[in-house]
Amino acid sequence: MADKDSIQETHNYHLDIPVNNEPFRLKGSNSLDWGMKNRLSNIFRPETGRAVMLAIDHGYFLGPTAGLERVDVTIVPLLPYADTLMCTRGIVRSTIPPTFTKGIVLRASGGPSILKELSNEEIAVDIEDAIRLNVAALAVQVFVGGEYETRSIHNMTRLVDMGNRYGIPVLGVTAVGKEMARDAKYMRLATRICAELGASYVKTYYVDEGFETVTASCPVPIVIAGGKKLPELDALKMAYNAIQQGAAGVDMGRNIFQSEAPAAMIQAVGKVVHENMKPKEAYDLYQTLRRR
Ligand code: 5RP
Repeated sequence: MADKDSIQETHNYHLDIPVNNEPFRLKGSNSLDWGMKNRLSNIFRPETGRAVMLAIDHGYFLGPTAGLERVDVTIVPLLPYADTLMCTRGIVRSTIPPTFTKGIVLRASGGPSILKELSNEEIAVDIEDAIRLNVAALAVQVFVGGEYETRSIHNMTRLVDMGNRYGIPVLGVTAVGKEMARDAKYMRLATRICAELGASYVKTYYVDEGFETVTASCPVPIVIAGGKKLPELDALKMAYNAIQQGAAGVDMGRNIFQSEAPAAMIQAVGKVVHENMKPKEAYDLYQTLRRR
């Protein structure tokens, strides 16, 4: 309890210093509430406004994917190099050390396995459990053009409503069906729908032609998925091109954890994302780090 007898007179109002009122620099996020901004700052590094998300949620429909057979052995050592980890609550509770204080982006949709129609998902987590896990964001698959398009979009809008109640951002993950063209036209459609319907940020795939039109027409940040495993130099080129064309980061899985040297690869990706390092230089760094 403060001692009432020794209260000093106030005197130092710093009248010559204007109140610092800096805008929140993340695209489309300036009007969000403090809690949302705080959580987004645990995903996107405030110094660069960009993020290296490590995506390891594949098991929610694929089971034990190559590279994720033992998350404790292969992924936990990578955590110091990730800005954010995207995973399921099962992996968080069973395997991720609670001393990990960076953002967890929680996979919040699920249902069908790889053996069934993937777009037939439902919300797979209670908002109370997400709060209990202190997550930075909720991730939900959106199947624009898919068989259960409306259901997946409704999953997202319900999560947005729940997230808005508690200051938790939602990541809309655009899932491109096998039968759909992976081109800029589709990505513009899918990412814009996610943003219009309330996603705080959107994950999509990089496309070689016109990706800058995808980032330009989406009013919130875009991060790219890595997709299937590529040679390391190609994955670094993809990350570089995406960042230079307006992406705010990567949400990369297989191109990191299936790399021959995952720790070296995630550090090289980090340089591309946060320091605009050119792909060849980042690849040289990868080669140097993997030899250590
Ligand atoms: C699964 C996902 C994955 O997180 C996403 O595909 C990223 O992983 P990768 O870089 O391996 O594609 O959203 O649906």
